[in-house]
Order: sequence, then C-alpha cells, then structure tokens
Amino acid sequence: MPRVNAETSLPIRFTLDGEEVSVSVTPRTLLSDALRHQLGVNAVHVGCEQGICGACTLTIDDAPARACLTLAIQVEGARLRTARSLSPGGKPGPLAAAFARHFALQCGFCTPGLLVALDAWLRRRPEASEAELRAVIGGHLCRCTGYQPILAAALAARAAYRASGGGGEGGGGEGGGEKGNKENDA
Ligand code: FES
Ligand code: FES
Repeated sequence: MPRVNAETSLPIRFTLDGEEVSVSVTPRTLLSDALRHQLGVNAVHVGCEQGICGACTLTIDDAPARACLTLAIQVEGARLRTARSLSPGGKPGPLAAAFARHFALQCGFCTPGLLVALDAWLRRRPEASEAELRAVIGGHLCRCTGYQPILAAALAARAAYRASGGGGEGGGGEGGGEKGNKENDA
C-alpha cells in the first residue's frame, strides 16, 4: 500500500449538482476549499470555518453537511448538491423564487446554505411545521434580513413541496420537474 503523508495528492471523484467531477486533494484539504478554490464553486460560501454560521452548507448523499467541517477525501463517490441545483438552468425553483419574492436576502451571503438546508428538510418532510422550519433556519446566521422574511419564504415554498410529495420535486434541480416549479403561498 502506498505511503500517504500530508503533502500527498490524492485523486477523488464525486457527483456535484448532477455532474461527475474529479479533483486532486491532500488528506487535509477541506471540502469547502476544494470546491471553491479548485472547482470554482461559488455557491458554497465560507464564513466562520468552524461549523457555526451555516454558509457552507451542502448535501452529501442527501444529508445536510458543513463543507468547512468535511475533508474533501470523505466525499469520494458521494453525491453532492449545492444551492446551484435549486435553480436548474438558471431558473429559480420554488424555494429560491420564494426567497426573492419575500425579500429573504440582502447581501446573499447566508442564502446558499439556507436554501440547501431548507430544501433538504422539505424534501424529507414536505409537511414540516413552522416550528421545524424555524429550527432549520436557527442553524444559520444571517446578519442582514432578520429571520422573519426567511421564515415567510420557507412557509410559502412549503406548498410546492407538499404538492409534489417532497422527494426532490419541490426544490427543482436533479429530478425537479415542471410540477416542482409551481409555487403557491401556503
Ligand atoms: S463556513 Fe462552514 S459553518 Fe460557517
Ligand atoms: S442576507 Fe446577508 S447575511 Fe443573510
């Protein structure tokens, strides 16, 4: 077995927003750094780099994760989704559209992480209560909007996830269809 040290460059492959990608990383390369610096993914923001702010949130095999707390080599063979997947073809899906309509962002720094976290929850639980959505939002820091517009957007988008039965159609992106792009206020 080849000896691996901190400088060893290791090739990894994974799926990113529906596309197969490959990149070489050292054992200590953070996923957030590999995505942003090596693959040019600007839909993953980096704020605190210690798991607090939530700006770097993406999903790994459908589970929300902090990219700043994940080593890149951990995602070998995994399926990653970022906020890019919520606006397929550049067209905002129901959740992203609700954020715009409800003025749920200003500088937009926290927005990709919030979108991914809310989408992941609503895919799993399209019947999510307001309290559940508040808890999801509570894992993210926003310095601009206050949280009320973000909650309003999540509640508005919930109807689209309910209509599609969750399972990814409500959020658009991979598997998202015309049905999932219809948004209704709850
Ligand atoms: S940058 Fe990852 S949680 Fe803040
Ligand atoms: S919109 Fe600026 S930090 Fe949330």
